[in-house]
Amino acid sequence: MEKTLLVTGGCGFIGANFVRLLLADRPGWRVINLDKLTYAGNLDNLREVADSPRYTFVRGDICDPSLVAELFARERIDTVVHFAAESHVDRSIDDPDAFIRTNIHGTFTLLEAARRSWPADAAAAGHRFLHVSTDEVFGSLGPTGLFSETTPYDPRSPYSASKASSDHLVRAYCHTYGLPVLITNCSNNYGPYQFPEKLIPLMLNNGLHGRPLPVYGDGGNVRDWLYVEDHCEAIVRVLTDGRVGESYNIGGHNEKRNLEIVELLCDMLDRKVGPLASGQPRRSLITFVRDRLGHDRRYAIDAGKIERELGWTPRWTFEQGIERTVDWYLANGTWLAGVLDGSYQKYYEKMYAGRTGEGGK
Ligand code: NAD
Ligand code: DAU
Repeated sequence: MEKTLLVTGGCGFIGANFVRLLLADRPGWRVINLDKLTYAGNLDNLREVADSPRYTFVRGDICDPSLVAELFARERIDTVVHFAAESHVDRSIDDPDAFIRTNIHGTFTLLEAARRSWPADAAAAGHRFLHVSTDEVFGSLGPTGLFSETTPYDPRSPYSASKASSDHLVRAYCHTYGLPVLITNCSNNYGPYQFPEKLIPLMLNNGLHGRPLPVYGDGGNVRDWLYVEDHCEAIVRVLTDGRVGESYNIGGHNEKRNLEIVELLCDMLDRKVGPLASGQPRRSLITFVRDRLGHDRRYAIDAGKIERELGWTPRWTFEQGIERTVDWYLANGTWLAGVLDGSYQKYYEKMYAGRTGEGGK
């Protein structure tokens, strides 16, 4: 089966892993990667595949209607996999503007382009618009329970509210215009190429450099972790076998408290590179800091639908995935140094100024 995909945000963390997977595993598929290259987008993430005859990179903004319409026409796009977004919750609390623009208006721009360029029988012709979303649209769980596809939406941060808005727009285009859409709502990803503002790579980077490890609040918030390759494989499965108009929750059945993750990373670094220069173990760097505003307590995914209907289950256990991830960051110090340029350092200092020492423990 041949396809021409418009992948948005392919230079980000999950997008880059997805493009690599497609170019390796799907010889009949052509990939057009549309990415604005914000602070989170990095051409180095796709360096080894950039010369593939089945890959084209276009630098541009998903909010630009003429560029997007031109790409649909020129490249004869029949499939959209939409990753491009502002993705970091703390940034959305600090300055929501770009989240509203990219996550809502950008998704609207892509939907309009698909609606205007695809034929009336797009669904039967095999065209698909897959919107990559998050479990955060469902809000926060108490100590028990899981998010399913029928859990009511209850987004609680500017980031999750912008993603929930985009999910609603995608569903509305299916209901109103018959656009053949699919939605995936996934839990926290980890793995290679994740920008070191997110919990796991941030702790690895700080731990390697002997810097404080800032744990928000009491460290008891729970996330459900999934290795990024598993997420990418699930997206391919939904694209090829998912029922049009449906949404699928994706998760790894790996609930962990944040403090558990940070302590595990400390111990792994001590084992792999030795203790700190002072001889102290890395756990001594753990610093409880002021909590994130509106911090959701617990996320956990019921991934039963995608397993029952499409036969997808994660391939990697958390132990395997985290081992691969830590090894990748240790082997890719140049990549890490490259993404940590001056602008990120300024952001980091601003975000964490005033937090240290004000922890909720
Ligand atoms: P990321 O921040 O690493 O990458 C985002 C990419 O989008 C970057 O390459 C950036 O340059 C690009 N981009 C941003 N604004 C753009 C614009 N206006 N036009 C074109 N490109 C633009 O994000 P990620 O962690 O890889 O997440 C990808 C998608 O998956 C997002 O939609 C996110 O909501 C969703 N998601 C992420 C996770 C996770 O744990 N990271 C979990 C579930 C869902
Ligand atoms: O659940 C899916 C979501 O997971 C995605 O939609 C988002 O794009 C992605 O960023 C992620 O959101 P989180 O807010 O859960 O991820 P983050 O890595 O920022 O934080 C994970 C947990 O760790 C969260 O409870 C906050 C906490 N944390 C985070 C950072 C950066 C800390 O305690 N200290 C930190 O320095």
